Amino acid sequence: MRVRIARADQFSGPIEIPGDKSISHRALILAALSDRPCRIKNLAPGLDVRSTARCLVELGAAIDLEGNRAIVRGRGLSLNMPRQTLDCGNSGTTMRLLCGMVAGSRLAAVLDGDASLRRRPMKRVLEPLRQMGAKGRGTGDGKGGETAPLQFDAGPPLVGKHHQLPIASAQVKTALLLAGLWAEGATQVSEPAPSRDHSERMLRAFGAPLELSPRGVLSIRRIDRPLTGPAELEIPGDPSSAAFLVAAALLVARGELRISGVGLNPTRTGFVEVLRRMGASVGVEAGAPQAGEPVGAMVLKDAPSLVGTEVGSSEIASLVDEVPILSVVATQATGTTLIRGAEELRYKESDRISQMARGLTAMGASVSELPDGLRITGPTPLKGAAIDAQGDHRIAMSFAVAGLIASGVTEIDGAEWADISFPGFFEVLARLSHGAVQ
Ligand code: S3P
Repeated sequence: MRVRIARADQFSGPIEIPGDKSISHRALILAALSDRPCRIKNLAPGLDVRSTARCLVELGAAIDLEGNRAIVRGRGLSLNMPRQTLDCGNSGTTMRLLCGMVAGSRLAAVLDGDASLRRRPMKRVLEPLRQMGAKGRGTGDGKGGETAPLQFDAGPPLVGKHHQLPIASAQVKTALLLAGLWAEGATQVSEPAPSRDHSERMLRAFGAPLELSPRGVLSIRRIDRPLTGPAELEIPGDPSSAAFLVAAALLVARGELRISGVGLNPTRTGFVEVLRRMGASVGVEAGAPQAGEPVGAMVLKDAPSLVGTEVGSSEIASLVDEVPILSVVATQATGTTLIRGAEELRYKESDRISQMARGLTAMGASVSELPDGLRITGPTPLKGAAIDAQGDHRIAMSFAVAGLIASGVTEIDGAEWADISFPGFFEVLARLSHGAVQ
């Protein structure tokens, strides 16, 4: 689908953002391992979370999904041997988290996904699982290590060990903690920098024996009973989806915007810190927690001008999905914005570093591509260009926001990829920009 975007001079109106994608995957998975029905409200509506639900049904959970509500009747820890390939679609989170479950419960299973997921590196999760005794391997021919389809064979019970992760990855961390629910002894995980901690919060909410040492080592033990979770969970709004709208309001109108019911987990709000350093006035107002997560409103106030900033490796994990949209904002900041330590972005749904460098350059920005990030000097006026989303939802949405401040028309090919995390994004953008999206 091709969407045409013109320059907007307004960006205002009431906003609701979809439920958090990361938290939704975890809610479905842990409810599937639980012994009591769990009603989930405000589940992320995107296709990735549907992929997780589909796979969990194949593993024996009963899931009634209607709109953004689900009722999950779990299987406890005895999952069914899948009769067909576990189709993870476009979702890296689904594939990596399921690796932990399939390995832990020693199921013979094949996990596969679309062309983009078949290119993504899976050794990072397979290797530490193999060190626990899992019989899983990548059979794909993607470059750069093992890739899907992934083949798991049944084998003896896994044995816990201490994993020192070379990269901060919530997906890998979560896969290992999930496998640890079935493994003998303790499964421990340390990360070089803290990644999002939704799994830790949700595991605790479901009664899993998870501990965090003062030195930051997570430790989980095998349980011989199903998890027991809350009867009801309400998923907070997704701060990664909110980021596109905050950026649009900032760039188009230097304007005011309020987004309520959004997750404010500090492992996810690095982009708010960076926007503040750039001169934006983004406030957060805490509300009542939901699903063990801090939730509240993000409030953007009038910002006269933006300045460039530096974002380094210690911050990347807290804004890993927001680098594309932050790089759009950086084109309008005075001076240089340097983003380093973000090599991981090359292994997302697309190579986001090169996609952003290429697309923003085509729109007239001054951008250099670095091996592990971007250098952007501004402010530069943007001009409309033809952008191919290359199968990446966050690329489609980032360039749509860039199109709102560009002269002429920006054409986004593959706009439908936004459905992965934010179905209805272009309708929301059309409404808030008062018609700049056709
Ligand atoms: C996610 C973790 C992040 C993020 C992805 C969702 C998760 O990946 O980029 O969109 O839900 O665990 P890594 O932490 O593995 O880099």
